[in-house]
Amino acid sequence: MSLLRTKSIEASIADSEASEFQLKKNLSALDLTVFGIGVIIGAGIFTVTGSAAATMAGPAIVLSFLLGAVCCGLAALCYAELSSTVPVSGSAYTFSYATMGELIAWIVGWDLLLELILAAGVVAQGWSAYFNILFGEWGLKLPEKLQGGTGWFDHFDLAAFGLVAALTCLIAVGIKESLRINFALVAVKVFIVLFIIVMGIQYIDSKNYTPFIPPAQPLEGESQTMHRPLWEILTGMEPQAFGVMGVISGAALVFFAYIGFDVVATTAEETRNPKRDLPIGIIGSLVVCTILYVSVCLVITGMVKYDKIDPKGALAAAFRDAGHPGYAQIISAGAVAGLATVVMTLMIGATRVMYAMSRDGLLPRGMAKTNPKTGTPVPMTLVMGFLIAVAAATIPIGEFEEMVNIGTLSAFFLVSLAVPIMRKARPDLERPFKVPGSPVLPWLSAAICLYLMLNLPVETWLRFAVWLLIGFIIYFAYGQRHSRVGRNSQLQGGVGDGVYATDLDSSVGEGFTKDERYSSDERH
Ligand code: ALA
Repeated sequence: MSLLRTKSIEASIADSEASEFQLKKNLSALDLTVFGIGVIIGAGIFTVTGSAAATMAGPAIVLSFLLGAVCCGLAALCYAELSSTVPVSGSAYTFSYATMGELIAWIVGWDLLLELILAAGVVAQGWSAYFNILFGEWGLKLPEKLQGGTGWFDHFDLAAFGLVAALTCLIAVGIKESLRINFALVAVKVFIVLFIIVMGIQYIDSKNYTPFIPPAQPLEGESQTMHRPLWEILTGMEPQAFGVMGVISGAALVFFAYIGFDVVATTAEETRNPKRDLPIGIIGSLVVCTILYVSVCLVITGMVKYDKIDPKGALAAAFRDAGHPGYAQIISAGAVAGLATVVMTLMIGATRVMYAMSRDGLLPRGMAKTNPKTGTPVPMTLVMGFLIAVAAATIPIGEFEEMVNIGTLSAFFLVSLAVPIMRKARPDLERPFKVPGSPVLPWLSAAICLYLMLNLPVETWLRFAVWLLIGFIIYFAYGQRHSRVGRNSQLQGGVGDGVYATDLDSSVGEGFTKDERYSSDERH
């Protein structure tokens, strides 16, 4: 029974409304849309697109992006319904705790940590690729060994390490993304993306679009098994690259480029009118990014034949090869500015999720202890920053993305299922935004998420299984026994689902929340 105990919506809201936990409600729908675009546009479009087009889908990468957009669009509707109904931070983790019980909530939280921590590492690697292109143009190239590489432990990506280390220090001392800086960096990023589209159109050679879906090519060799999509193995299909299945595997990979709209839901408590503004922010940022992404894909695969695309820093390389090193520099500079903020936001997101889990006692509550001077959970931030920095510096480029995706897709899968469950369990709640056509659309959303997950490589599934296993060990060894919901229900002599005394919280974590309040004040 304890695995199914739920934290009631009223308890989550009460937690967030306890005076010392209250955040300033200042964000508008436009702020949320800009915030969303700021987190979404990152390494996905600047680097992952190039390698997916070159090795999986060719010009049909645009179809992969559209499929990814459909998947995310459906999940976004589910997020919009849940976050407008339960406007407290913690996002998917909180929704699951209210609907599917503690064990599922733990899995979602654990998956979100996988998403956010690894995504920060990947974007740091993408940042480093553009950093090296930019400084390379100025003759300040780092030695190959100190750049990102494709092998294990044969390089140390100094720039990626340095970026994460610097951002860790910033986050630890409490300097968070202020809205104004975020606005400026989003403007730079959107400008660069529009620049690529407008400048690139003139170099499009329509011959490069043929074949639009490159014919499937057989892959040989046993060693490929680990890199083959699980779906291909389960259905006994021949190993292949490109073709229609390549487009679908491409979608499972470029899904990465959309990640971040779900982070908008974590700002629920800081939103002026969450019931109206959250759906607008989540769906609006996704629509804008989809239009930009599809346009960039058409331009890049039109400029460069797919098999000649440079998987490292594809966009800048395309302009350099078209004889415009100056444009390449502008793009690299924009990417260097724009990707840094994505890394920081993802790292802050990871800290928030970990904080929410610690607040509920599923992770040691001491981890959310804050430094009285900085008002931030310094030890948690430093440990996390160190792990991300080492991973970003040493792990081969292209190894993380699919792990990030499987973590995110599994969270989306469970969030989609949570919509009809919550409607049944709590029909009384006011739902300012409703997914149309429920339960069919939420189920369809869950099915597409699962299908994309199955199109990720076997290796990714194995790593995911190991991640989940570690999660289960931690939960059963620690979380289950220290859960505050569990403890409260024991005190009340019942099982789960009670509004519990928020004053039990006062011993832990208040500094983090003060810091959040500070950050919120600082923004406005
Ligand atoms: N969507 C984010 C990116 O592309 C994670 O960098």
